[in-house]
Amino acid sequence: MEYVEKARAESERGELVLRERREENGPVVWELRANGVFVMDTEETSTEEALATACLALVEEPAQVLVGGLGLGFTAHRVLADRRVRRCVVVEIEQALVDWMRDGTVPHGPAVLADERLQVVVADVAVALAEARPASYDLVLLDVDNGPGYLVHDANAGLYETPFLTRLRTLLRPGGAAAIWSASEEPALEEAMRAVFGAVDPQPLDVVLQDRAEHYWLYVARVPSQA
Ligand SMILES: C[S@@+](CC[C@H](N)C(=O)[O-])C[C@H]1O[C@@H](n2cnc3c(N)ncnc32)[C@H](O)[C@@H]1O
Repeated sequence: MEYVEKARAESERGELVLRERREENGPVVWELRANGVFVMDTEETSTEEALATACLALVEEPAQVLVGGLGLGFTAHRVLADRRVRRCVVVEIEQALVDWMRDGTVPHGPAVLADERLQVVVADVAVALAEARPASYDLVLLDVDNGPGYLVHDANAGLYETPFLTRLRTLLRPGGAAAIWSASEEPALEEAMRAVFGAVDPQPLDVVLQDRAEHYWLYVARVPSQA
């Protein structure tokens, strides 16, 4: 396996590295790491896309969508592939990553960001949601960390807890839906979402990551049509 570093940045959260991974005769894979921890790659993106499709399938008119965490843009791209979506706001905390996606350091980045329905906001998603108007989104999709059990950034712990989830629910319109991506099964998150939304649908997702079997999870919840 050969690695080539393509970009590196420092922020108050630490180090962010974008690198290429290449196996002999294999495709070039892009990998994002934060403080040495694997965040994601471009080889296995089915669950990033499932985060979008699981919710898009639930809502009749998903016109307004908020995505927490740009990453390498797969969730946002899948959201924008749905022509019912009129606006997709992506909240990403790392300015450098947005720059790499915009300037082509990530080769597919400019095409993803070119969609005129997409707005990228550089902010902590906790702050962005605290400032958003109530009932302003049909879908809220969160993939900002590896889940409460494997946090890349400890400061994200609150994003999986009741006060934040309660706030998130107020941003959804009647009939809207929310989904949270997690790298592991998280009974406490499931319980918190059930308490806030009345019900939750935990969806296990089996993936193979560099020859390893992994089991990721989506936690999906809805707001009743007549809230
Ligand atoms: C796993 S990646 C998201 C992957 C994305 N779903 C995709 O399809 O490429 C997580 C992203 O969330 C960002 N992030 C981490 N904490 C955040 C926060 N509190 N607010 C907003 N973005 C955050 C990270 O910088 C990273 O880009």
